[in-house]
This record gives sequence, structure tokens and C-alpha cells, in this order.
Amino acid sequence: MASIQAAITGVAGYVPDYILTNEELSRMVDTTDEWIMTRIGIKGRHILKGEGLGTSDMAIVALRELLRKTHTAPEEVELLICATVTPDMQFPATANVLADKAGILNGFGFDMAAGCSSFLFALETGAKFVESGKYKKVVVVGADKMSSITDYQDRSTCPIFGDGAAAVMLEPDTDGYGVIDAKLMVDGSGRKHLHQVAGGSCYPATMETVAKRQHYIYQEGQPVFKAAVSHMADTAVEIMERNGLTGESIDWLVPHQANVRIIEAVGKRMGLPPEKVMVNIERYGNTTSATLPLCLWDYEKRLKRGDRLILATFGAGFTWGAIYLKWAYDGDKVA
Ligand code: UT7
Repeated sequence: MASIQAAITGVAGYVPDYILTNEELSRMVDTTDEWIMTRIGIKGRHILKGEGLGTSDMAIVALRELLRKTHTAPEEVELLICATVTPDMQFPATANVLADKAGILNGFGFDMAAGCSSFLFALETGAKFVESGKYKKVVVVGADKMSSITDYQDRSTCPIFGDGAAAVMLEPDTDGYGVIDAKLMVDGSGRKHLHQVAGGSCYPATMETVAKRQHYIYQEGQPVFKAAVSHMADTAVEIMERNGLTGESIDWLVPHQANVRIIEAVGKRMGLPPEKVMVNIERYGNTTSATLPLCLWDYEKRLKRGDRLILATFGAGFTWGAIYLKWAYDGDKVA
């Protein structure tokens, strides 16, 4: 019997309407459009505005669209994994909130947090449930409201992040399409360079933690940059080599969108021309768990059945990894 692989059979995304431009940011902190474009490559980022709105309010739009596109009734979904570092609340999981909003009543769900690698880790996890043969409809969501933990007084982090959500459907395939190989890694010693000090069990919210602005992203850019380039490139190249792939045989690199210079360096190490590298950071910034599925969503119409994709990421933790998958459908035929 042919082995079961987990194929992506649909993708949908959502970004909120409001666009925070570099021009507006330069009135909030000491920065310029020129610095942000040359050092990071971001022009604008979408921000979710509105009292009481959270990650699930973006994710539900993407999820409903995904169910429509894949002709899936909510009751058919057996597992929903929500990759996020900005859950609606500490508990219950945002997956539960989403399941309720979407009417997913016959399955289970949970959140997965692995910094900017959350979606890739969740994709591999979801794939395993499908490969086991037990589950036929698994949804993997990547969603973050990064504006909720971004300090708009800190010029070294506030230009980077944006809000967004996207989701993919995973279904069994026995014709060789879907997730073929993955390598996922953590190195917890990197956590000192990128974290949020307060709001967890070590430092629950107090007047002092708020006054010290400890509920925001803390990042030392340089060491994170260096680790991101080397780990993403090394892992993607390892995945290429052990699957007999070359720059020619790969159709697309789907890289985490943290910095256009990181993306270019990884593409170069893999021997890929720029036109094979998905890039949308200019419009969205770093949406953390949403970057990879938002790329798939933006490029869906150009994807063909049989295309060879490498997804690669790096994030807080440190966490990183790469997945090799064969695309399962012609994106231009999707209504
Ligand atoms: O997704 C999770 C993983 N995260 C990442 O992959 C992020 C990795 N890191 C980076 O992308 C980059 O390190 C940053 C974009 C965060 C920073 O870029 P950089 O080229 O590493 O800049 P830097 O931190 O070395 O700062 C260079 C200069 C400094 O000034 P001095 O000390 O040279 O006078 C900063 O104070 O740029 C200054 N600077 C800014 N200037 C204008 C820092 N932020 C800004 C700003 N506008 N927004």
C-alpha cells in the first residue's frame, strides 16, 4: 500500500485594513523610510485596530475562507492547530476560540508556540496526524497580532512587526504530493536574545512590569540576525541535499519574512534565483506565525501541482527548521 503523505489542499489569508506606513512610524520614533527599507525591507504593515479584538478575529476570517475554498463543512474538521505567540488570552487556547467561532464541533485543537517557527512546527505536527492514517481533515492556522506586544516607543523593534493570519488544509495523499521531509530544531540558550520578559509565570503583570515596559518584545537584533541566516540556510541546504534537490529542481523557497537581507542570503546559499523566492515582507512586515501561510496565499495562483517547495524559518527560542513538500494542486484553478 502506498504511504500516506499530508498534502496542502487549500490556503486562505487575512490582513486587517489599517496600514501603518514608515511615514507614520517616523512621526512616532526617530526613524526614516530609507533606514527601514534598506535595513529590513518593509514599506508598510497591517495593524488590527479595535477594542477587544485579538488574534482569533483575524484567524477566523482566514479559516472561514479556507473552509469555503476547500468545500469543507466545519463538522468535518478533526484537528485545528493554531500557531501563535499572541493568543487571545493565556488560556484557553486560541484554537478553542476559533473552533467555537467556526462551528468546529467534531474535533480537537490546541495552540503551538515556537516563536516565528510556530507555523512550521505546527505544519509538521499536523502532517503527522494525517500520515498516521487516522485524520483526514487537519487545519493549521498561523496568526499573530504582533502589535499587541510591540513597543511603539522602541525604534529597534517597532518597524519590524505586523498583524495577520492565514490557514492551510491538510489532507491525505497517496500519489507522492504533500510533506516529504522536515528538520526542526531548538536551541533554548538563544532565548536571551529574543523574548518577552513579563506576562508569564516568572513575572506576572504588576504596576512595575508595566512601568518598565516588560510586556513587549525584547530583541538584540545582531545576534538574532546572524543565527537566523546561518541556521535557516544550513537547514534548508541539508534538506535539499538529503532529498537530491538542487537550485534548479526547487521551484520555490518560502522563507520566514523577518528581514529581506536574511531572505536574500538564504536564497543565495541555496543557489536560487530571486524569482524563485517568495517575498511579501514589504507589505506585511514580520507577522510571526503568519508569514509562511501568507506567502502561500499570496503566491497561490502561481503554484502548480508537482511544484517542489522548501519552507524555511527561524525565530525566538531559538527555533528553526525547513520542510520539503510537493504542492498538490494548480493554484490558478482555485475559485
Ligand atoms: O523573526 C524572528 C527573528 N528575528 C529576526 O530575524 C530579526 C533579525 N535582526 C534584524 O533583522 C536586524 O538586526 C534589525 C532589523 C533588527 C536591525 O538591523 P541592523 O542592521 O542589525 O541594525 P543595528 O541593530 O546594528 O543598528 C544599527 C544602527 C544603530 O545605530 P548606531 O549604534 O550605529 O549609531 C541603531 O541605533 O541603526 C540604529 N537603528 C535605527 N536607526 C533608524 C536601530 N533601529 C533604527 C531605526 N531607524 N528604526
